[in-house]
Amino acid sequence: MEIVKTAKEVRDCVKEWKKQGLSIGFVPTMGYLHEGHGSLIKEAGALCHKVVVSIFVNPMQFGENEDFGSYPRDLERDAAFCREMGADLIFAPDAEEMYTEGFCSYVDMEGLTRELCGKSRPGHFRGVCTVVCKLFNIVTPDKAFFGQKDGQQLAVIRRMTVDLNLDIEIVGCPIVREPDGLAKSSRNTYLSREERKAALALSRTIEFGRELVRRGITDPKELTFAMKKNIEKEPLANIDYVEAVLMDTIEKTDRIKENVLVAMAVYVGKTRLIDNFIVGKADLPGDWQEENREC
Ligand code: PAF
Repeated sequence: MEIVKTAKEVRDCVKEWKKQGLSIGFVPTMGYLHEGHGSLIKEAGALCHKVVVSIFVNPMQFGENEDFGSYPRDLERDAAFCREMGADLIFAPDAEEMYTEGFCSYVDMEGLTRELCGKSRPGHFRGVCTVVCKLFNIVTPDKAFFGQKDGQQLAVIRRMTVDLNLDIEIVGCPIVREPDGLAKSSRNTYLSREERKAALALSRTIEFGRELVRRGITDPKELTFAMKKNIEKEPLANIDYVEAVLMDTIEKTDRIKENVLVAMAVYVGKTRLIDNFIVGKADLPGDWQEENREC
């Protein structure tokens, strides 16, 4: 496995692989990798001949008062992890390589970025779309792999590939959790021991919300209200949002049904954590499914 720092090195390597008829899977990351990323790398390896992982803490997607400076970084550790997971190439550019002097072109998405994290973190998705579009143009993968934990990001990237005619299949992969339920995240490293315990309010509330759907709640307001009340029992937790939206468009919905994304962002101490679930057919009570079955 090679580690390269320039776009040209990635292009040369990928060109050679494509000449041999090999398919390319791509896993974009900001590093400090964990088993969530590991599952993406493994899935890429299962579906493609070669796997490229990018490691770049993208300054453009962080707001002024966010954690760009303190975001954990450890390339040596990440390289060992990627090797173990079966990656073939790491692209670890510095900011100057990605944003050359005079840089002034951006990918700015409307619609899907208005709610949830797009609302709380203005400019965040402009940074995400711009960097992911650039990385796609450098790596030119056949498939790219994203975790469902960033549910809105997954929807936004899918929309971007359609809107910009990018010939890349976007593969969404399930959330990977710690044994006690906490969704894996590089930001979990910020949590003190007490906060780590308090952070379980998120996954517990995800399970609680899913159970309410299974029991037949169909009003999104009723569902998110009950979920908020559940989080508020934890004194260290501070809710940013708990919302139910349509997964494909990130628009508010007036009914809980299949493919609704129930998503939350919650501060635990100073750390902002996200979690979600997507309502599946199996979550909906039988009668409701029967009534709404398409003929
Ligand atoms: O999900 C992330 O880690 C980042 O948003 C991404 C997709 C690597 C873009 O910087």
